[in-house]
Amino acid sequence: YLNLLLINSFILLLFYSKIFPYFKIYVDLNYTVPCVRLLNATHQIGCQSSLSGDVGVIHFLESEQNLDWVLNTGHSPPYMVVLEGANFILSSMISFNSSGRVAGVAVIEPNTNLPGDFSPHTQCPNENTGVYTEQYDPAYAHCNRTLWNPLGNGLSYEQFHFPIFSLKDDNDTQVIRQCFQAHNLGVNGSAPEYPLCAMQLFSHMSAVTDTPTCIRRNKIQNDFSISPEKVCDPLGGVNVWTSTRLINNTDKGHKKSESVVIAAARLDSRSFFFDLAPGAQSSASGVVALLAAAQKLCFFFFFQETFDYIGSSKMVYDMETQQFAVDMDNVHSVLEVGQVGLRSSNSPIWLHSDPVSRRNSSVDEETAAKNTNVNVSEPDASQPLPPSSFQRFLRARPLPGIVIQDHQSVYTNRYYESMFDNPENLNMTYPPDLSPDEQFNFVTETAKVRGNKPSCPVTLCTVSQLLYGFLIKSKNPWFEQIIPSDFASRLVDRPTNFYTGVHLQKSEASFLVEYILANLTGTVVNVTQENCKNQRENEDDKDNKYFYSYSWVQGALAPNSSDRQSFCVRSSVRTSPAISPAFDLELLTSSDYSTWTESRWKKITGRIFLVASHDLEMLTLGVGIGILLLSLLLTYIISSKADILFCSGREPTNATY
Ligand SMILES: *[C@@H]1O[C@H](CO)[C@@H](O)[C@H](O)[C@H]1NC(C)=O
Ligand SMILES: *[C@@H]1O[C@H](CO)[C@@H](O)[C@H](O)[C@H]1NC(C)=O
Ligand SMILES: *[C@@H]1O[C@H](CO)[C@@H](O)[C@H](O)[C@H]1NC(C)=O
Ligand SMILES: *[C@@H]1O[C@H](CO)[C@@H](O)[C@H](O)[C@H]1NC(C)=O
Ligand SMILES: *[C@@H]1O[C@H](CO)[C@@H](O)[C@H](O)[C@H]1NC(C)=O
Ligand SMILES: *[C@@H]1O[C@H](CO)[C@@H](O)[C@H](O)[C@H]1NC(C)=O
Ligand SMILES: *[C@@H]1O[C@H](CO)[C@@H](O)[C@H](O)[C@H]1NC(C)=O
Ligand SMILES: *[C@@H]1O[C@H](CO)[C@@H](O)[C@H](O)[C@H]1NC(C)=O
Ligand SMILES: *[C@@H]1O[C@H](CO)[C@@H](O)[C@H](O)[C@H]1NC(C)=O
Repeated sequence: YLNLLLINSFILLLFYSKIFPYFKIYVDLNYTVPCVRLLNATHQIGCQSSLSGDVGVIHFLESEQNLDWVLNTGHSPPYMVVLEGANFILSSMISFNSSGRVAGVAVIEPNTNLPGDFSPHTQCPNENTGVYTEQYDPAYAHCNRTLWNPLGNGLSYEQFHFPIFSLKDDNDTQVIRQCFQAHNLGVNGSAPEYPLCAMQLFSHMSAVTDTPTCIRRNKIQNDFSISPEKVCDPLGGVNVWTSTRLINNTDKGHKKSESVVIAAARLDSRSFFFDLAPGAQSSASGVVALLAAAQKLCFFFFFQETFDYIGSSKMVYDMETQQFAVDMDNVHSVLEVGQVGLRSSNSPIWLHSDPVSRRNSSVDEETAAKNTNVNVSEPDASQPLPPSSFQRFLRARPLPGIVIQDHQSVYTNRYYESMFDNPENLNMTYPPDLSPDEQFNFVTETAKVRGNKPSCPVTLCTVSQLLYGFLIKSKNPWFEQIIPSDFASRLVDRPTNFYTGVHLQKSEASFLVEYILANLTGTVVNVTQENCKNQRENEDDKDNKYFYSYSWVQGALAPNSSDRQSFCVRSSVRTSPAISPAFDLELLTSSDYSTWTESRWKKITGRIFLVASHDLEMLTLGVGIGILLLSLLLTYIISSKADILFCSGREPTNATY
């Protein structure tokens, strides 16, 4: 009878789990990009879903007018709001956050840039960690004098209680739209009838509150758990640098009579969404300009500058604590290349400098622009520096230095730190009939403006091909030749992603810059593959590795063959850690150093399906439980009266015939 009871209940359970959400057929979304959670010393920003994913009825927000349906009048909250890029604005998002009627948001990524402007970043980037603090000069603190990014709406620094995804795939969008139109549009303005089309988004984040809390949890996990699971990781990566003069990389600290000029550019970018950072103007334009400038300089590419200058603050810290090949006293001056991609052919380049340190006459003299053949100008002498890595050097010591930009005052970039800061923003267009190879060798208008030395076609070609490699596809004939074969799979048919990583991960951008720099500044040496990989010229060589780095690169394809003619490149390109000193020093509440961490997560997915109304579900559940109880009762009655009901029973053992 127990068997009977169990089978009975099991069948009922099966019946209800199958029938009750009667058409729960899931369609998985194939290409979604979430917004994730980031934490600093005091706050958490970004988005997350609940542990089991958030579900809501899909509503397409065609314009701001039908916001009211979502916020007040709709009959079937919570809603999963699907919006076009143009409706992804701060005020709507804030009202969603406070309404309690929104389960999540999906943003359709447009195929072309918005006509207007869009910057989800703050108006004063890295406001608190640059040089302009109250102590340095109150007149300049908090972008008092120049608000660099006036278009910034701060969306990237808000905290949302629901998941927000970007829909990158047209097919996904199509499927969602069809489901919405078939089920969620009421006939003639009446409320739509169940079943309705719903969407579920999973992006549960492990870390909460702030960086000190999550680092503490990491430690507890580490100490007490058998299989420790970290909840967050410090943002980080590597800086890439090289010098034109040979420097012994293992000999740290001050070098007598050494004086270096640092040429720098930033190597990272971000947008509202995770892993989506084209950074065309904000990063790539400066990187390309610096790579193309083969001058007598020390090159530094600072990584992770978006999040409170992680890369440069670590470098300055290492220089001050004798952990780098040169120290702060060796630095003569800094030349930084910022956003330079939006210059038209007749407008000047702007050389920005720091008015406070220039009050010292010797610093001022060194900073003063030397006359060059390029069309350059200086902004008003009382204008402070735009956000730049150079500010971190100035925090350590007054130094001469300039930051090169294409704007005189506020940013001309209308899409700063957004997904629209893409090749289109830089007018990188190719005639439509060119093959990929022809595009690679085509000199765009953007490159012409930037190369600006017509007598130097090699530079022009380099600029143009670098722009192609960073902004169109990194999988191109040049880049394929100059990287080691282990990395070949990292070259892709899309623009380079300048998004930041965690710990010492080499990002896509740092790895590319490392090998391009080796190709542009290094030499090909006749060294065997084994010696090259062991960082030496020949078996007896012990010292060269202190001065050089060697890489065995793929080389060009041999004629009529798929084999590559690999060779060894010797250069002085190095990487150095770009992790905020706050983590080594355990200053997790620091306001001088970046404290940004990124939460971990287990699952990022989205799917759509049809849902029954809540009332119907409850009714079905009620009936189900009723039937279950009834059947239990029946089973009980049947089992207790079995002797009577099934009179054959078991033969009594003492039966006699
Ligand atoms: C952390 O980030 C929030 C949001 O951007 C900001 O308001 C706050 O000042 C930051 N805290 C520190 C210590 O930088
Ligand atoms: C989108 O759908 C079309 C036709 O249904 C198909 O050919 C195409 O490969 C799909 N694209 C993706 C990215 O799945
Ligand atoms: C995702 O891809 C699978 C397999 O290609 C396909 O069956 C499914 O319909 C796709 N989903 C969407 C929303 O396009
Ligand atoms: C919707 O309204 C129109 C005009 O009032 C009417 O002709 C049509 O039959 C209605 N449709 C339904 C499904 O009620
Ligand atoms: C890009 O093209 C548009 C339209 O042709 C033009 O108005 C704009 O000035 C161009 N921008 C640059 C940086 O060349
Ligand atoms: C100017 O800066 C130089 C170098 O940093 C320093 O030696 C000198 O004392 C400063 N002069 C004044 C007037 O502060
Ligand atoms: C740089 O790349 C070019 C083109 O692939 C190649 O011809 C050249 O030998 C490389 N130089 C170095 C130093 O790697
Ligand atoms: C490279 O070195 C090998 C052995 O030292 C020598 O036989 C060969 O000729 C060299 N190749 C070139 C191009 O110098
Ligand atoms: C490559 O192949 C083509 C046709 O197969 C042949 O004509 C040519 O001579 C070959 N070239 C080399 C360098 O072997």
